[in-house]
Amino acid sequence: MDKIRVAIDGPGGAGKSTVAKAMAKRFGFIYVDTGAIYRTVGLRVRRAEANPKSAEEVEPLLADTKIEMKYDESGSQRMFLNGEDVSDAIRTPEMSMYASDVSALPVVRAFLLDMQRAMARENSVVMDGRDIGTVVLPSAEVKIFLTATPEERARRRYLELQAKGTECTFEQVLADMNLRDKNDSERATAPLKQAEDAVLVDTTELDLEASQNAVAALIEKRMQA
Ligand code: DC
Repeated sequence: MDKIRVAIDGPGGAGKSTVAKAMAKRFGFIYVDTGAIYRTVGLRVRRAEANPKSAEEVEPLLADTKIEMKYDESGSQRMFLNGEDVSDAIRTPEMSMYASDVSALPVVRAFLLDMQRAMARENSVVMDGRDIGTVVLPSAEVKIFLTATPEERARRRYLELQAKGTECTFEQVLADMNLRDKNDSERATAPLKQAEDAVLVDTTELDLEASQNAVAALIEKRMQA
């Protein structure tokens, strides 16, 4: 069978990564979390104490930024920055904002584009992000735009952070989420938006199992076509 590329885009907290991971497992595809790549660039910029919104400050750093994506024995994606495993360090609210800021810079997006496309050339993939169906894999076989209301997405993110022991309030998480949604949707290059041929899946009223079943049905339909 030919390679299948499943693009799952949408705002933060909609359940993309959980659903995408489950789909990869169910169908035997590789899962690529593209947000982690932007987070890794964000960490590089933070460590260099550069301004994440400034192309002039960020561009020179890219020349000695080596980003690698590897999979551990359990199949989880690990991110390496210049040889160091930074998979945990990139998962903080601060890195979410850094990632959102650096991702608005065209020079950063161009720097990461080939790496993402190469993953889909070699494997059947489930790739999640903001511009997978619109820019990275415009001819993906399955395109899904996964969303939920901001309040529901913030509630999920808040519970996740609480479970990790990260100190925060719901109001803070909601405010960060709204700011990031605005940043990601209003930027000029590859903004977050539903591809014309993507199927909208609203998970506000769906639990995890129902969300997964809805997406799996779309993939199965395409595989049988
Ligand atoms: O999915 P995430 O929260 O880990 O993504 C972090 C940020 O990276 C997000 O706010 C916007 C950016 N991003 C992007 O611009 N394009 C992608 N394909 C994935 C993420």
